[in-house]
Amino acid sequence: MNRIRVPEQGLLIVGLTGGIGSGKSTVAGLFAEHGAGIIDTDLIAHRLTQSGGAAIEAIRKAFGDHFLTEDGALDRAKMRRLIFSNAASKHRLEMILHPRILEEAKSQLNQLQNMPYVILVVPLLPESPAFRQLVQRVLVVDCDEETQVVRVAGRNRISEQQVRDIIAQQTSRTERLRLADDVIHNQSDLKNLAAQVTALHERYTNSN
Ligand SMILES: Nc1ncnc2c1ncn2[C@@H]1O[C@H](COP(=O)(O)OP(=O)(O)OP(=O)(O)O)[C@@H](O)[C@H]1O
Ligand SMILES: [Mg+2]
Repeated sequence: MNRIRVPEQGLLIVGLTGGIGSGKSTVAGLFAEHGAGIIDTDLIAHRLTQSGGAAIEAIRKAFGDHFLTEDGALDRAKMRRLIFSNAASKHRLEMILHPRILEEAKSQLNQLQNMPYVILVVPLLPESPAFRQLVQRVLVVDCDEETQVVRVAGRNRISEQQVRDIIAQQTSRTERLRLADDVIHNQSDLKNLAAQVTALHERYTNSN
């Protein structure tokens, strides 16, 4: 397999992306078992919008108290309903969250300089030029839509139609694959998935 060259011989940062339920978290977990540094932007977003989180004041100013729960966290369900059908609100929320997520991801990267390489999980990588600039490679986890629907509906209390609606709002599969330097095909079982991760781990660690 080809070795991967990093221009400045610095830390290799791999942006991991994929549609809802494609297997990003599972894949990140497998990379972590190999000793990779992991940064999860979903987790960062979650922390920012918890009670006392760094984005709460800005959200209160932009949307009002009624989008916060009694204990001062973002009311996720209510916000999800608003932004699902309201593009301006979605943009407004993103203007609050994205710069803060980016800043926190960069700060975590500074702490991970001694790692062999870092997997940066960014579901919104296709829509975010700033994150695309931060990573040297894009790794897409890919599976077909039916598999996404079955896996997400099996994991959450969410209907198949809701999963389809979310998929329809996300960047298309074709578009996402166009950005990929590497692809993990998550159509088969977990053993097959782990083998693909192991092969990529070998390539990423031999890159320096
Ligand atoms: N190859 C596989 N075989 C069986 N189940 C799988 C496989 N890959 C992932 N899953 C399961 O499918 C579900 C979705 O996977 P996962 O949570 O890793 O996806 P995700 O891309 O992180 O989702 P989200 O977009 O919601 O963050 C999980 O319940 C996971 O355990
Ligand atoms: Mg996930």
